[in-house]
This record gives sequence, structure tokens and C-alpha cells, in this order.
Amino acid sequence: MTPFRLTRLLPKDATGADLRADVRHGLTSTPKTLPPKWFYDAHGSELFKKITELAVYYPTRAEDEILAASAAEIAAETGARTLVELGSGAYSEKTRHLLDALPGLHTYVPVDVSESALRQAGQALLVERPFLRVHAMIADFTGTLVLPETPGPRLVAFLGSTIGNLLPAERAVFLASVRDLLAPGDCLLLGTDLVKDPSVLVAAYDNAPTSDFNKNVLSVINRELGADFDLDAFDHAVLWDVAQEWIEMRLRSRTEQTVKIPALDLAVDFAEGEELRTEISAKFRLPSLVNELSSCGLELSHWFTTPAAQFGLALASPSL
Ligand code: AVJ
Repeated sequence: MTPFRLTRLLPKDATGADLRADVRHGLTSTPKTLPPKWFYDAHGSELFKKITELAVYYPTRAEDEILAASAAEIAAETGARTLVELGSGAYSEKTRHLLDALPGLHTYVPVDVSESALRQAGQALLVERPFLRVHAMIADFTGTLVLPETPGPRLVAFLGSTIGNLLPAERAVFLASVRDLLAPGDCLLLGTDLVKDPSVLVAAYDNAPTSDFNKNVLSVINRELGADFDLDAFDHAVLWDVAQEWIEMRLRSRTEQTVKIPALDLAVDFAEGEELRTEISAKFRLPSLVNELSSCGLELSHWFTTPAAQFGLALASPSL
């Protein structure tokens, strides 16, 4: 068996068709919205990496710190022989902590929509760990997921609080589908950013690199769909929704303008000051998280946080 395998669960043009559908739907809705997954082309992924290095953007560091401190306990608790990482992206510190802590690991299964990210990460990883088997899956974790036949127990990791990008109803669907991937003895490791002082939350998103990241979705639409978005004609806006307990990122039109999207044969009007929602980033509290998990057939077994409780890692297993 070769150490690196790649399975495509998405049809070759799935991404293009999906982008067209999302942009048409989102920009003809009121209010206008775009899903955050389109931030992450090669440039957007670089911008995100830059964000994770900002002093104000604490989530990545906090989660790394938890993993560094708790990976051994997680490993002992799960005894995982297969590590599945949903939305694995580039080879990261957090993955390294888990791999280091799992001596009995047989196969690593990174799951991502980006074939290039999967190939790069797989290569980097196999240089470090030539004896590990890597079975990469080109797949959208919000879609139907079929995992390769690998030895159990399996640990399915969904890190970075990416779950916060889903609306509550979408989270329920997602968690139930993850639950269905788990056999008895398998576990889910879920990274969650936690509710805290709104000024700390807003500062993590309201800064220049995040503004570039936010506007990058417009560049993606320009390049992929031939649109003529002027990035300077929009302002980056951040707000904390107290009732929903999520951060919202928006792009606010500076003027009344019409944007053409030739690939969709669509012209989109913006009023002066009109806002387009590009991301929600929900923040969690332990009691409601426990309820959300349990209503999807998952039982919390361990909860790891930083001393200042900025971020939490939940370990959960299928309820009996
Ligand atoms: C990777 C989705 C968790 O919501 O904090 C960072 C993405 N957006 N800055 C987040 C993001 C703006 C990030 N997630």
C-alpha cells in the first residue's frame, strides 16, 4: 500500500457549480449573504494564516495551547488508530500535536475541499512521518461523508471553531452526520471558541488583515465568475450579536452601485450603506454545547480549556 492515497468524493467541477449557486442565491437574497467557505483560495488561506499570527486573534493560539497540554490525555482516552480531520487545510501545529501524541496511529485521514491543500499537507507530513499512512479525502464536510476503511478506534477532529461558521440548524445537521460516522469506541474532538467580553471578540475580527481577508471573497468572485467588484467600494464591518452570541462580518457598500457577474448573467444593485453578510462566527458556552451535542446523539466525555477559558475542546462519544 502506498503511504499517500487520495479519494475524491466531490465531482471535478463541484466547486465551480457550488460557487455559482451560492453567489446567485446569496446576492439575490434580502439581506445579501455569502457563505464563508469562499474566503479560502490560495491567497485567502495565506491571509487567514496571517490573522492567526495577530496578537488580537487568540483562538488559534489558545487551541494550540490546549492541544499541547491535553493531546496525551486525549490520545490515552481514545486510543485512536485512525485520526480523521475535517477541514484539515494546510499541515498545522494542531495536527502535529495530535499526531505526536498518538503513538499507535495507523492512518491519518485529512478531509478538505482543496486538493492542493491536501496534496501539500500530505507531502509535508510524510517527510516527517514516513511510516504513517495518509488517506486524503476531497470532500465537503457539510455534505455526505463516507470514510475509508481504516482500523478503529477513530478520532474525528473538527478544530479551529469552524463549527461556529454554521447556523444553529446547520450545526444540528452537521453534528448528527458526524455522529453517524462514529462506531462505539470512536470519538469526536470539537474546537469551540467561547463567549467572552465583546470588546475582546470584536478586536479579534475588526482589524486590517481581517478586512483584507473579508474582501478576498470579492476577489474570488471576480476571478472565478468574471465579476467587477471594486474592493475599495466596500468597508469591512464587524458586529457582536448579543442575542445570538455570534460575531458577524459584513461588507458595507460605500455608495449606490451595480456589480456585474457575467458568468451568472447577473447584475447586483447595492444601496449606499447596504451590508452583505459574509460570515457568522458563533461563540459557545459549555451548558448549551452539552445540550446541542446530546440532542445529536453525542455525549460529552471531557472538556479542555485554557486557564482563562478563552477556548474549549470537547471530546464526545456516541450516546448509548
Ligand atoms: C476559522 C472559521 C474559525 O471564525 O474565527 C477569522 C475564520 N474569520 N477571522 C473564525 C475567521 C475572520 C475563523 N474560523
